[in-house]
Amino acid sequence: MAIKVIKHNCKDSEVTDESVFLNRRTILKQLGFLGGTALLASSSFSSPKADLLMGKEIDPSVSLNFTKAEPISDELTQEKKAVSHNNFYEFGSQKHQPAELSKNFRVKPWSLKVTGENKNSIELSYDDLFDMFDLEERIYRLRCVEAWSMVIPWIGFPLNKLINKLAPTSNTKYVRFQTLYNPEQMPGQRNYFLGGGINYPYVEGLRIDEAMHPLTILAVGLYGKSLPPQNGAPVRLVVPWKYGFKSIKSIVGIDLIPKKPNTTWNLLADNEYGFYANVNPEVDHPRWSQGYERRITSGGIFNQTRIKTLPFNGYADEVAQLYKGMDLRKYY
Ligand code: MTE
Repeated sequence: MAIKVIKHNCKDSEVTDESVFLNRRTILKQLGFLGGTALLASSSFSSPKADLLMGKEIDPSVSLNFTKAEPISDELTQEKKAVSHNNFYEFGSQKHQPAELSKNFRVKPWSLKVTGENKNSIELSYDDLFDMFDLEERIYRLRCVEAWSMVIPWIGFPLNKLINKLAPTSNTKYVRFQTLYNPEQMPGQRNYFLGGGINYPYVEGLRIDEAMHPLTILAVGLYGKSLPPQNGAPVRLVVPWKYGFKSIKSIVGIDLIPKKPNTTWNLLADNEYGFYANVNPEVDHPRWSQGYERRITSGGIFNQTRIKTLPFNGYADEVAQLYKGMDLRKYY
């Protein structure tokens, strides 16, 4: 996001694209290196590049079984745009970097630990994420606080189904989410400049009624397939009426808690990024208007169309009652 953090400076030479990776594997294989990696594995040289040398496979996206969504009137964003224009600072703060620098991000095995108020917990493996609940498609608008937006067919399940497994009581007031912390795999976590000056791990939070709302989902896929790394594989949050930064990626922890949790962007600049972050054309960002957005589709100049931003991103009928009586200028 365009905030007062230090811009990184990543040279193209640091980026390894998939064709280079595949070529390298072939060459290493021919030289008899793959399978004989004990030396590399035992050394302290560990980075995504080291993983490439060690011949670890990329997890490819796989087709999913899910109930299809009814089409909506908004034009879908092209898949190639949704997977190449990303915010995922753990893999760099420039839009093109997450797709490039997450190519060998390993999501298997994965563990998502969900902890209730009495420290009771359940742990979901990679397979559980796809098997525990029926998967459904949801076509949602995603509105970034930076004033661009997309329309994306997500695949996932309502977060409330998972939370209900822990039988929350009235003591649970908030839900805290945490992204994987793994500097070896996430270059932005080991390089302050690449990672946009964020203090990792990335954390987010919702009020319990927001988390239980039927529109709030945990997504495991998009466009019919499992999520690619740059979109938050293997599991991410999607809260369509809030600015995109609330939709935390690659989640390893979900906690049901009594007090409001800290959130990454709120900690970085609380006057710019509030805890609620409901899409609101009436409340401008201190440095730009939120009245309009650039919808990234197939139309308009550079595939972008300037449109008016709607309150709650067009989901007011479903969610406005959650904030009844609240001053949304104060709770932005
Ligand atoms: N989650 C993590 N862990 N790290 C991030 O940098 N960026 C957020 C959100 N989730 C981010 C994150 C922001 S600012 C946006 S707009 C959305 O992811 C972008 O999602 P997309 O790249 O799938 O479009």
